[in-house]
Amino acid sequence: MKVAVTAASGKLGAAIVKKLLEMLPAEQVVGCARNIEKAQSLGIEVRAGDYNNKSHFTAAFTDIDAVMLVSGMDTPENRIGQHRNVIQAAREAGVKKIIYTSIIGETIGTSFSPIVAGNRQTEDDISNSGMHWSIGRNGLYIEPDVEYLEHYIKAGNISNCAGEGKCSYTTRSELGYAYSMMLLGDEHNGKTYNLAGEPINQQQLTDFFNSTFGLNLVYEPLSVEEYKEQRTAERGEFLGNIIAGIYASISNGSFAVSSDFAKAAGRKHISWEEYFRQLAPKG
Ligand SMILES: NC(=O)c1ccc[n+]([C@@H]2O[C@H](COP(=O)([O-])OP(=O)(O)OC[C@H]3O[C@@H](n4cnc5c(N)ncnc54)[C@H](OP(=O)(O)O)[C@@H]3O)[C@@H](O)[C@H]2O)c1
Repeated sequence: MKVAVTAASGKLGAAIVKKLLEMLPAEQVVGCARNIEKAQSLGIEVRAGDYNNKSHFTAAFTDIDAVMLVSGMDTPENRIGQHRNVIQAAREAGVKKIIYTSIIGETIGTSFSPIVAGNRQTEDDISNSGMHWSIGRNGLYIEPDVEYLEHYIKAGNISNCAGEGKCSYTTRSELGYAYSMMLLGDEHNGKTYNLAGEPINQQQLTDFFNSTFGLNLVYEPLSVEEYKEQRTAERGEFLGNIIAGIYASISNGSFAVSSDFAKAAGRKHISWEEYFRQLAPKG
């Protein structure tokens, strides 16, 4: 069996490749990337794969049995067509199975909802593709919060508009494991899984940071408008709006899902206690 992972130059694509390499010889794993150089360090063959260019994937998939389609980063309108390029090229190349990294959340209600709706459209395109398929709906990555810790420390607080809402976070490494198992196991065909750990709220996240790193951060809830204004000033209109929408989605409960991680991976998701224990400074 030979598998191809798209967006292999990105963090999730790389995490999936890394886990696949624990299960398959390197000759059976191919990466696709719009910038081949960026994915060279993975130690596998990397082929051209720009989502805007269907012919890249037609060429890349000639000897591929299963494709892992990692969602792109464009606007929802552009992304649907980009993903269709991959799906159509896979079908035409005779690929037997395709797996898609979707997202949890609701298609209406916040400024993040259009992104969710775009993901649901690709889910429909995947399940109607005529190939075997599986879909993972990813929880929110926890790593960006960890990477943002210096900013939280500087501010002395974690402030956003999630309020008391719980969020189903996950890690890219755990997703990499689940998607590798989904790629290799036929029992996952035709299944859609929520892939996440135990839902936690922002106060619990703050407590994990405090106990892990010996900090005294406080959680400060903001209104959606206040938070949107703050994020837009820092990240610009497009991203600010999306980030505020994500936290508004946590606040309204649409990011707290029951997880199917164990069904996909054959084992439990890492607990947040264990995840933060591993992050704790040694000595
Ligand atoms: N669940 C979550 O919390 C969460 C958060 C953020 C994003 N996401 C979604 O999950 C996906 C993977 O996340 P990540 O952490 O791996 O993000 P990342 O590290 O930013 O990687 C994004 C990947 O998409 C690739 N890409 C963008 N446009 C492309 C195009 N036209 N053709 C081919 N490749 C293209 C990028 O290629 P380059 O390396 O050339 O830029 C990169 O490999 C994201 O793309 C996004 O859809 C999920």
